[in-house]
Amino acid sequence: MGLLRLLVLAVLTSERGVAGGGEASGNSKEAILHHISSNVTFLIFQIHSQYQNTTISFYRTLLPNASETGTNRGLVSILRPEQSMCTWYLETLDAEPVHNVTVPLSYSERDPIPGGCNLEFDLGIDPDIYLEYNFFETTIKFAPANLGYARGTDPPLRDVGAGRDSRWKLQYDVYRYFLPENDLTEEVLLKHLQRMVRVSQVKANAVKVVILTADDKTTVSFSSLPGQGVIYNVIVWDPFLNTSAAYVPAHTFACSFKAVDGNCASLGRVSTKVFFTHFALLTPIKYDVHLILTAIAGSVVLGFLISSVTFFTPLGNLKVFRDDGVFWVTFSGIVILIPLVFMGCLRILNILTCGVMGSYSVVLAVDSYLYTSLSHITLNVLRRALNKDFHSTFTNLPFQTNDFITLAVWGMLAVSGITLQIRGERGQPFFSPHPYKLWNQSSLLRARTYYARMAPSHI
Ligand SMILES: *[C@@H]1O[C@H](CO)[C@@H](O)[C@H](O)[C@H]1NC(C)=O
Ligand SMILES: *[C@@H]1O[C@H](CO)[C@@H](O)[C@H](O)[C@H]1NC(C)=O
Ligand SMILES: *[C@@H]1O[C@H](CO)[C@@H](O)[C@H](O)[C@H]1NC(C)=O
Ligand SMILES: *[C@@H]1O[C@H](CO)[C@@H](O)[C@H](O)[C@H]1NC(C)=O
Ligand SMILES: *[C@@H]1O[C@H](CO)[C@@H](O)[C@H](O)[C@H]1NC(C)=O
Ligand SMILES: *[C@@H]1O[C@H](CO)[C@@H](O)[C@H](O)[C@H]1NC(C)=O
Repeated sequence: MGLLRLLVLAVLTSERGVAGGGEASGNSKEAILHHISSNVTFLIFQIHSQYQNTTISFYRTLLPNASETGTNRGLVSILRPEQSMCTWYLETLDAEPVHNVTVPLSYSERDPIPGGCNLEFDLGIDPDIYLEYNFFETTIKFAPANLGYARGTDPPLRDVGAGRDSRWKLQYDVYRYFLPENDLTEEVLLKHLQRMVRVSQVKANAVKVVILTADDKTTVSFSSLPGQGVIYNVIVWDPFLNTSAAYVPAHTFACSFKAVDGNCASLGRVSTKVFFTHFALLTPIKYDVHLILTAIAGSVVLGFLISSVTFFTPLGNLKVFRDDGVFWVTFSGIVILIPLVFMGCLRILNILTCGVMGSYSVVLAVDSYLYTSLSHITLNVLRRALNKDFHSTFTNLPFQTNDFITLAVWGMLAVSGITLQIRGERGQPFFSPHPYKLWNQSSLLRARTYYARMAPSHI
């Protein structure tokens, strides 16, 4: 794969829709690539925008089988012999031009063709990654690739054999890249998208999440992170020729920039909901007078949090835990283990529960204003309980400066809270006594001091 560093990309204004038919109603631009080297056999031209749709087309007239519409869209142009120039048409239905970046990439005959084996989408060869999200998960889907071939020859047959010359040997590496937290701006997104376009950049910048072979379905699910920008890309690799090609990256914030409800800007922070869920769960317990019950309920909550933290670490992405049975047995095992371990010393258990849960509430409160990944500790488990498909999603999250700071604050609050409580309770009775007893004791004390002063020795 080589870059078209020295080639000139001219984006010229076309005479709007004069000869081109009615479709070209908005801003229509032509992108022309000159001086294409003869060793280049196919090109991928792509256009990216934040949320407004743009259309990229082979022809001025838009045909469903020769154009793509969306926010991260590209086309593969297979070059004819002697062809040294290529043209694409870019447009948007919006009245104003859409803020965008366009990138042309060139590949040679040894490189695999992304989306070359497309049977699902409209276009013949479709290098795009189709992304869908809901509250629970974000799913990406792409068409399988085909082997590259020389200019002017016929493409390799799609589904013949399984040997060296078959597309079945191709391997797909799925990469994920997190944008800076709490940044939803167009500039930052477009800048980072450009780091996810070329094979070498993707390998250098992003994290490889999963490797798919031709036997796997070309679909992967991740947990949704509303308000957090994520860019996905897929690199197809030919293990015999050791060549690769990149698909067209797709991005999402798992929220809408246009919708009135669930809008990115006014994002009702999910953690706020968790926060209130916690309180909804804890409040009835708090007023329960029965001390043992409080201790057990509290320790189950502590166990729940500890178990959630365990599965929040990379441990949670182990393949065994994708089985719902194994996951829930292990999860409940840890939840029950905590009360069992501390059964003998309920006081320590209570102190730990208060310290850890209290400080976690602070983390959630912080998250209501600033995005941090820590709120997803408990959210992931709730999502898994509520969504039966969630077991196959990848749940690891960005861990950036905010998260380290919040984690440090959480740790400090928990430790200082626990230390203070232990100090304060040293020499105090096992549980705080009944209020009447306290009152009776203090009135007794008052009475004693009163009588002591009245005692004859003071007179
Ligand atoms: C084409 O050849 C030139 C020089 O030989 C090289 O720099 C470039 O990377 C090649 N392009 C591709 C797509 O292989
Ligand atoms: C696209 O569709 C048009 C008619 O709908 C057809 O004439 C044309 O051959 C198709 N092009 C390709 C590349 O399939
Ligand atoms: C963008 O295009 C897609 C597919 O054509 C369509 O489903 C979606 O509603 C469009 N979005 C906007 C904001 O126009
Ligand atoms: C893409 O951005 C350029 C300016 O950088 C603008 O002229 C063009 O109209 C935009 N394309 C679309 C489809 O909006
Ligand atoms: C495959 O190519 C990459 C770079 O394109 C190189 O780093 C790697 O060493 C190559 N592997 C083999 C086995 O040749
Ligand atoms: C309150 O204090 C008095 C005086 O010491 C004592 O006799 C009484 O039993 C106490 N009542 C309770 C409920 O502890």
